[in-house]
Amino acid sequence: MLELGVKTLLAYLLGSLIGSLLVGQLRGGVDIRKLGSGNAGGTNALRTQGWSFALWVMIIDIGKGWLAAGLLAPMNLPGIGIDPQVERDWLAVACATAVVLGHVYPVWYGFRGGKGAATLIGVLVGLKPIAILPVFGVWLAVVMLTGFVGLGTMIAVASFPAYLVITEAEPSMAMLVFGCVMTLFVCYTHRGNIERMRAGTESRARRLWLLKP
Ligand code: G3P
Repeated sequence: MLELGVKTLLAYLLGSLIGSLLVGQLRGGVDIRKLGSGNAGGTNALRTQGWSFALWVMIIDIGKGWLAAGLLAPMNLPGIGIDPQVERDWLAVACATAVVLGHVYPVWYGFRGGKGAATLIGVLVGLKPIAILPVFGVWLAVVMLTGFVGLGTMIAVASFPAYLVITEAEPSMAMLVFGCVMTLFVCYTHRGNIERMRAGTESRARRLWLLKP
């Protein structure tokens, strides 16, 4: 249990390092939580600060997701070791959950972070890299068809457990549970987007938005 406790705590602290707020501090104290949609994430960074800012945000937020789920979880930490009683998939999804919770409720930033989308991309790279392409395809299709980035994120996260069920004869229970819980959680973090879509006030990505300077 020591391994599980130490690694989930480290993953949470890592998740609490928010890309947009770190880059904002380096660029003259910009806090994008006060701008655009108010979300401390890559989409709002692109919307309010442009490509170069958003690129660093995505590198940091995706990177920490991968670090937690793909590197920290299986790592043999000095003085901690590998606990044979802890099932590896459950440990990986515990670290994945902790890094996403850190991103949404960061201890370093007054528990006001982002919505977890980019961190989940990194987590997916760490947990199940083969699923990245289909999940990204779902996200891209929804964003291209509707213009709503948040809707694309919610449906893409939901497509992960669906992908596991469709493509694997015996999908990992830990990953299935993780995918379903994250789908609900991401819908919760995007509740403002859902409200705005219902009210018709959600901002739409323009057709060539991804190519904007
Ligand atoms: O990165 C989160 C994304 O899914 C939605 O962001 O700024 O449009 O609320 P935003």
